[in-house]
Amino acid sequence: MKKLIAGNWKMNASLAGNEALVQGLLAGVGTPACDVAVCVPSPYLAQLQTLLAGQQAIALGAQNVSAHESGAYTGDVSAAMLKEFGVRYAIVGHSERRQHQAESDTLVAIKAERALQAGITPIVCVGETLQQREAGLTDTIVKQQLSAVIHLVGHCISEIVVAYEPVWAIGTGKTATPEEAQHVHSVLRAQLQAATEHADRIRILYGGSMNAANAAQLLAQPDIDGGLIGGASLKAADFLAIVAAAQ
Ligand code: 13P
Repeated sequence: MKKLIAGNWKMNASLAGNEALVQGLLAGVGTPACDVAVCVPSPYLAQLQTLLAGQQAIALGAQNVSAHESGAYTGDVSAAMLKEFGVRYAIVGHSERRQHQAESDTLVAIKAERALQAGITPIVCVGETLQQREAGLTDTIVKQQLSAVIHLVGHCISEIVVAYEPVWAIGTGKTATPEEAQHVHSVLRAQLQAATEHADRIRILYGGSMNAANAAQLLAQPDIDGGLIGGASLKAADFLAIVAAAQ
């Protein structure tokens, strides 16, 4: 299966900075053997749509989507709006939103469904905190998080992307070992297999301090089908090195 390397810029962007970063990415990306995407803050979607026009190598992604279709939801951005700006992927349920915006498993599932309805691929994030890992709850937590999405979207589950992001590995420089990550990915794969006969084509990305130095080993694991990259997606050379490691 084609791997997917997606950058999550988080709340790091500016008009000038985006232009320089995208120019660097386009100059070096060539014709990648994997899918590549950048998930940018909403105000820059129009700029990115223009910067990425006329090429196929890099797709556009959003970092969130409203659980509502339209109406009186001040500050929300709907899936239909994202679609108008050429968005292909939308991250849903990132741990930073689960933590700071109190997003529940159910809300995340609704967001995934909204994205799918608009023809956008949701990148559904799951992952345990350090406390949960130390309590031996990793498998239980990630399965619970994914289960809400499986139940809501039904047979459309084969259209999603999953991202396993251990919370303790995000932005900390601590990466899950390839074996630790592979274990959780295999648990998620088994859960997907129980839900759909197409589980083998669902991409399960790893995220959490993935960088140019550790990407190849992580991506060599049988159930790691790509990466969701935070810090290392903000420098063209670092992100391109991860894209290269995925081929
Ligand atoms: P870092 O790569 O900065 O650890 O962030 C990972 C992440 O949260 C991607 O969504």
